[in-house]
Amino acid sequence: MRDIKVSLVGYGIVGHGVVDVLTRKKKALREMGLNVSLISVTDHTGTVLAEDGVDAAKILGEKTLANLATSSMKGKEAIAAIDSDLVIEVTPTNIVHGQPGLGHMEAALSSGKHVVTSNKGPLVVSYSRLKKLAEDNGVMMKFEATVGGTMPLISLVERTLVGNTIFGIRGIFNGTCNYILTRMTEEGIPYAHALSEAQDMGIAEADPSYDVEGVDTAGKVVILANSLFDMNVKYSDVDVTGITGVTPEALALAKKRGYAIKLIGDVPALTVRPTLVPLGSPIAVSGTLNSAAIYTDLSGTITVTGLGAGSIETASAILTDIISIYRTKRIDAIF
Ligand SMILES: NC(=O)c1ccc[n+]([C@@H]2O[C@H](COP(=O)([O-])OP(=O)(O)OC[C@H]3O[C@@H](n4cnc5c(N)ncnc54)[C@H](OP(=O)(O)O)[C@@H]3O)[C@@H](O)[C@H]2O)c1
Repeated sequence: MRDIKVSLVGYGIVGHGVVDVLTRKKKALREMGLNVSLISVTDHTGTVLAEDGVDAAKILGEKTLANLATSSMKGKEAIAAIDSDLVIEVTPTNIVHGQPGLGHMEAALSSGKHVVTSNKGPLVVSYSRLKKLAEDNGVMMKFEATVGGTMPLISLVERTLVGNTIFGIRGIFNGTCNYILTRMTEEGIPYAHALSEAQDMGIAEADPSYDVEGVDTAGKVVILANSLFDMNVKYSDVDVTGITGVTPEALALAKKRGYAIKLIGDVPALTVRPTLVPLGSPIAVSGTLNSAAIYTDLSGTITVTGLGAGSIETASAILTDIISIYRTKRIDAIF
């Protein structure tokens, strides 16, 4: 049995999902030979630290750790000081400077801890530096949850399609935009109306600009370009147009001619723009779903669809990354 001590940094929607999923899957992980213990959870108020495992039932009932923290340690200090093998980083995304996640990941990797994250910011700002830091310290950095949430994309390309040449990846990488465009098409309602409906349902933020201006999708394009296409690009290299200018009339006309209009991210083209997609195409999914078409030399076009967000769904991608780190290490040990 392999003992794995895990620290969680960030205790919001995804953080709660991680605690829930690690608790639910404890037995299944043990059956795989992995004894995964969550020994600390840190948010901006402090840290709950328990060497024999955090009491999930106790913390899951609390929105923040304000009343539970057993230590005032935070951020980089907590990451460096706590004796964990792996850090799960799930603080808010900032694609301009990458903080606070960038500092957290640097602290974890440089102290010899694996990193699993759903936070796009640090990868958009500093992917190649973080990758080198991981290599220099003999640890791994995994980030399946940053693109397409639960939809397997990065691992599918890196592992299952290994040996194929990947010509490109095009898809819908933002569920909020897809929901708005779907509702505008279905009901013939204007953008502002569909947006406010999405906000009422909790699908869009009060400030939706990050999603609807295409910023979130462009960040994902940068991550795919750098990690799967070795491109070394920045956010400013992506040509971005969001969905705010899409009208119900344009959607209706497109539909009449057999097309949907979707916000499509494209790698290696490095574009994000509203795009005509034939109705019935596997990537023309509706509602909050995400999709991606992967164009390969040997396997043709592979399409995946799935939920791009959600507490448990995102935690599922994080769990997969944790397992894959230790499976890879086991294979490495054999060779
Ligand atoms: N939600 C999803 O479905 C989803 C899907 C894919 C990827 N993601 C990404 O995953 C990350 C987490 O998303 P989320 O929805 O869980 O966000 P969230 O609900 O806003 O949670 C973020 C958490 O990080 C905490 N935090 C902020 N600054 C911190 C610091 N310096 N040190 C420690 N903790 C800090 C926040 O505390 P306060 O709120 O008290 O500041 C909060 O608990 C984001 O980067 C997001 O883009 C989310």
